Amino acid sequence: MHTLTKDALLSPNALHQVEAIAREAGHILRQMFDTTPEVWEKSPGDFLTAADMAAHHYILEALTRQFPDTRVWSEEGERPEASLTPLWVVDPLDGTANYAHRFPNFAVSIGLFAEGEYMLGVVHDPLRGHTFSALRGHGASLDGHPLRVSSESRLHRSFVALDWARGEPRQRLLRVVQRVGQEAHALRSLGAAALGLCYVAAGWLEGYFNVSLQPWDFAAGVVIVEEAGGRVSDWRGNPLGLESSDVVCANPGIYPLLLTLTQEETSSR
Ligand code: IPD
Ligand code: CA
Ligand code: CA
Repeated sequence: MHTLTKDALLSPNALHQVEAIAREAGHILRQMFDTTPEVWEKSPGDFLTAADMAAHHYILEALTRQFPDTRVWSEEGERPEASLTPLWVVDPLDGTANYAHRFPNFAVSIGLFAEGEYMLGVVHDPLRGHTFSALRGHGASLDGHPLRVSSESRLHRSFVALDWARGEPRQRLLRVVQRVGQEAHALRSLGAAALGLCYVAAGWLEGYFNVSLQPWDFAAGVVIVEEAGGRVSDWRGNPLGLESSDVVCANPGIYPLLLTLTQEETSSR
């Protein structure tokens, strides 16, 4: 085992390795999806399946072996000490509620946080065979084809997506939905935040917003959408880090409008 230099870690080569890990984890999810999922409830409405754990164990082992001197923070594992970066921020299965419900929309998400920002990201959707990936400064791609956000700046021509947080946070979301929904061409909900961000990167959505997310939900998507020319922040407009939770993301034409609505909601409370 040898130590990786920073340049080797933040390289197209490393990105390809992470893409391969995400695809293999996706293969595990795909295979287990064909059998009746084993589902547990971690807390009311928060599900865990045997597939989350199988993908988690595979990714943890693969990242640790292939990238010495990095740490892994996975949704299904312990959080390493914050100062120890580079840090892989991993969601082995984004869209667990979908998965448990047999709704065919979920993904593997692997992001890298280094030097104070998200630097590399891969999101793999095993049912569609989509691999979204990006390395900061090198652009974003979908299965090797460059990604670009849409150029639409009229809300009434825009698709905007959100997902349904539970409890009190849903009320904040609903107040913004009420306003965006008056004008947007259509609202969508995918049930997997990582895919919401990637769909903005691909130009299939103009915007995406959600509340109460965890870093593993957006770590990879942040790099992918920014490298595709999009904008993403918390609801006040701050860059997303390891402690962020509310997210607003859009192409540059729609982002100022969505941010105004989320800022108004934040400042009115
Ligand atoms: C969930 C999804 C969903 C979002 C939830 C997340 P999980 O992730 O990303 O879109 O609304 O807040 O928890 O639990 O399926 O990994
Ligand atoms: Ca998630
Ligand atoms: Ca998850």
